Amino acid sequence: MKKLFASRGRDEEFRAVAEQIIDEEEKKNNRVLARSLRRSLETAQPARPKALAPLIPFPEAAGDFIERIEPTHNRQDIVLSAENVRIFLGLLREFQSAETIRRRGLSVRSKLLFCGPPGCGKTLCAEVFASELGLPLYIVKLDRLISSYLGETATNVRKLFEFARTQPCVLFFDEFDALARARGDDGEHNELRRVVNSLLIFIDRIQPRGFVVAATNLDQSLDPAIWRRFDEVVWFDRPDKGMIARFLKMRFKNVAVDFDPRAHLAALEGYAYAELERLCIQAIKAAIIDKRKTVLEGDFVEAIADERRRKRRTSRIATA
Ligand SMILES: Nc1ncnc2c1ncn2[C@@H]1O[C@H](COP(=O)(O)OP(=O)(O)OP(=O)(O)O)[C@@H](O)[C@H]1O
Ligand SMILES: [Mg+2]
Repeated sequence: MKKLFASRGRDEEFRAVAEQIIDEEEKKNNRVLARSLRRSLETAQPARPKALAPLIPFPEAAGDFIERIEPTHNRQDIVLSAENVRIFLGLLREFQSAETIRRRGLSVRSKLLFCGPPGCGKTLCAEVFASELGLPLYIVKLDRLISSYLGETATNVRKLFEFARTQPCVLFFDEFDALARARGDDGEHNELRRVVNSLLIFIDRIQPRGFVVAATNLDQSLDPAIWRRFDEVVWFDRPDKGMIARFLKMRFKNVAVDFDPRAHLAALEGYAYAELERLCIQAIKAAIIDKRKTVLEGDFVEAIADERRRKRRTSRIATA
């Protein structure tokens, strides 16, 4: 029951725990109760994300390079540094007082740049932030936008920004590096550079009703012309031991383990969250495959060794 309560807001986890309870009732021969619980579970609607903003139809032409994402994670699913928590709470409060601030003739911070290595929470945070704001999240596929735009008119980009101006939303430019790279391209790609520059000018001029968020793996090498267009730059770093401990506590909250995963912090340093997530899942799956209810230390140690092997091999490929 405690696990069920703890899974509040996370639909998949809630279902898994509920199924477990039903199975247990069946085993105890409480068939009527089990059947009735299963029926309630089947008819229950998944929790709606709290998108409060009314949705306006998205311009059809932009459908190829923009996608609406339904948030499935909330703030309990992400580990953030104290600094980033402070930044996001500040932005949230500013957004809630946006009307008053604007009436005083001041601008509201609404353009954010997320920097950091792969798998450290840039995309996840955009999703959680949108869900906390109660705004829909739209992901712009920049590579497609850039290529669709080549040789055409500026219409697509204009439509995109007209949309962000009128629709309160979080407009997320993933892999923003594509833009920076295209900007740096020399030679025959004059047309491409012109396109990219005009996209940057749009970002400059837009006053979104929600937020424009861009994410990149680059930081130092990013062009200063790009930095200064953003009201706030947020770094997502690889977790230190303290953050890894928080991640493990969160990840194993509803999982039976017979050891303290935090005894392995030293072996886990240097990994990105996405890698930690993968190795935790591998350890949990090992228990499932063995039909065990409890994850053993051996499962975890083996998963760490697998991840280490994978990292060693892939980094060799990356540097080759
Ligand atoms: N800060 C975090 N707290 C908890 N889990 C995280 C965090 N960061 C990443 N994860 C886990 O790793 C997965 C991948 O993270 P995410 O897609 O946000 O990385 P990213 O920074 O956007 O990487 P990329 O640069 O490759 O796009 C998440 O779905 C989540 O499972
Ligand atoms: Mg990402």
